[in-house]
Order: sequence, then C-alpha cells, then structure tokens
Amino acid sequence: MDTVLELIALAKHFPTHRAVDGLSIRIARGEFFSLIGPSGCGKTTTLRLIAGFENPTSGEIMLDGKPVAALKPYQRDVTTVFQNYALFPHLTVAQNIAFGLQRRANQTRASIAEKVTRILDLVQLSGKEDRLPNQISGGERQRVALARSLVLEPKVLLLDEPLSALDPKLRRQMRLELKLIQRRVGIAFLFITHDQEEALSMSDQMAVMNQGRLEQTGTPEAVYRTPATKFVAEFLGDVNWLRGAGVRPEAVRLSRQRPLDVAHSTVGTVETRTFLGNCIHVVAKLEDGSHCIAELPQQHCDFEPGESVHVWWHSYDEFRL
Ligand SMILES: Nc1ncnc2c1ncn2[C@@H]1O[C@H](COP(=O)(O)OP(=O)(O)OP(=O)(O)O)[C@@H](O)[C@H]1O
Ligand SMILES: [Mg+2]
Repeated sequence: MDTVLELIALAKHFPTHRAVDGLSIRIARGEFFSLIGPSGCGKTTTLRLIAGFENPTSGEIMLDGKPVAALKPYQRDVTTVFQNYALFPHLTVAQNIAFGLQRRANQTRASIAEKVTRILDLVQLSGKEDRLPNQISGGERQRVALARSLVLEPKVLLLDEPLSALDPKLRRQMRLELKLIQRRVGIAFLFITHDQEEALSMSDQMAVMNQGRLEQTGTPEAVYRTPATKFVAEFLGDVNWLRGAGVRPEAVRLSRQRPLDVAHSTVGTVETRTFLGNCIHVVAKLEDGSHCIAELPQQHCDFEPGESVHVWWHSYDEFRL
C-alpha cells in the first residue's frame, strides 16, 4: 500500500480524559478515508494532533514517510477544512482562496491567479469570485472553504464535519460533489463525521472509533456487512439479534407461509407498519417477546398489524458477534 499518512499508537491524554488512546491508522495516497464515531470519541482531537494544534502524549504521525509529530502546524503538508468554514468576511471569494498562497514563498502573482482560477473552476464557483462570503449560499461557502485548502495542494486534506452546517438536502447533494472533487484532485481526504450515511456513501476506507480507540477499519461494505464488534454493528445501523445472529432490517423477510430454511427463521406478530416513502418499516413482536424491525420494498409488504408472520433471512445476511 502506498501510504501517505500513518498514525502509530497515537495517544492524547488530557488530565481528566484519555481523548485518543492508542490509535493506529494508515491512509493511502488519493484515498477518501472517513473517521467516524459518536460525540466525544476523540475524532476532532485526532485531527488536531495531525494538523499540529495539539501535541501527542505518545505515538507518532508519519506524513509521506517522515515523522511530523514534533513539527509546527505550518511545517506539515496538511490543511484543514473546519466545520464553520472560518472564511474572512471582508475578503472576496477569490481573495479568500488566494490568502494561503500569498503567505507562501516562491509564489508569483501570476501563478497565484492561475491556481485560483483553476480551483474556482474545479469547485464550480467561476463567475462568483468577486462576491463576499455573505453574498453566496451556504453550499457555496462550503466550496470556498474547500477550495481555499485544496489550492495549497496538501498531501492530506483534513475535514472536520464539513457538511454539518448545511440543511439535509444540500448536505446529501454536497456528499456527491465533495467525492467528485476529491477524485478529480486526487488528494487524500481524512473526513471526520458522526453521520453513518455520510461515511458509508463517501469513503474508500473508513475507521470506526469509540472512546479514543479504534474498533474497526475497512471498506464501508465490509464494515457494514461484517462488523467486528457489537458497537460497530449498532453504530452503523439498526440490528436485529435473531437466534444469536445479527440481521440488518433490510435483510429481514416476512412471509405468511413457513419458509423452507427453518434454521434462519422465527415467528412473530406484526405490531406496526409505517410508510416511509422509499420502503415500508414493519415492527414485529417475536415469540420470545423481543422486537424485530424489517424494512421492506412496497410491493413485498401487504402485512397488517395483528397478523401472524414468519420472519426469515438468508444465512449470508447474518453476522455473529
Ligand atoms: N483541551 C481538552 N481538555 C480536556 N478534555 C478535552 C479537551 N479537548 C477535548 N477533550 C475531551 O476529549 C474527548 C474527545 O473530544 P473530541 O472533541 O475529540 O470529540 P469528537 O469525537 O470530535 O466529538 P464531536 O462528535 O462531539 O465533535 C471529549 O470527552 C472532550 O471533552
Ligand atoms: Mg468533533
């Protein structure tokens, strides 16, 4: 693997709290890598350690094969997109983007102008370069923040919940845009979020964190379908614990007839049936008193509350933890 960023047993212990507690992660060149976990699990602290805003208690950070944990932030070839964007309100879009370049040595006016033009095109803000931040939309401000960091051509771009200030619809749209921009620039992104859907839909690789430690790393599909721990299974979505195995709601099937494969089935009674637009959400009470959630395509769901049903699933859809 062509590693661009490696965290080796990285730890940050505050007097009263072990925010990061022995984290080891490898990120490949050009990869979209998400770090996901619940509030307070140490995501922002990890990012601040990489950027150099915090000093680690122990461990090392290797950037392109060189140790950087002892370097100052400006000596590290990483840039950060913050949650609140932190744009300069009195500078135009173009001036905001050029700001970091102007402070670097060896940059001529012409080369700065050329880079700014190229990046404006990349984030689709050409024509809006002379506006002030309060004269563009939230999604556009987000893209300025991104452009301002990308124009510095870092080895790794760090993003701390960059979409959380946007409304849900724009947020979904920006997921796709961000991913496309990442592919076009080919820079490794370390994307921090506590949103499962975001991490699952955008990442090449993702790492799930819990209380300062790593629970699992892998592709979104691997982590979702074969979670290594109960924590990962339940953090990434609903899980039905059926006959000692875990089954996701979308893998649960209901039928009136007894299924052939009785080893992967049980019986229950439909309690609620809720129309969700893209699917129907059914809660069934099982023989043992537990509840099972099923998400069924519309055409496969004419079950009514009170009805007895067989609940079944395919063995390949279960995981055991
Ligand atoms: N300077 C500090 N001093 C003491 N404790 C701190 C400090 N900074 C962070 N912490 C604690 O470390 C833990 C991890 O914080 P961090 O900000 O990294 O969490 P997070 O995963 O980014 O959470 P969120 O999703 O809410 O942003 C929290 O319990 C926090 O209170
Ligand atoms: Mg945070």
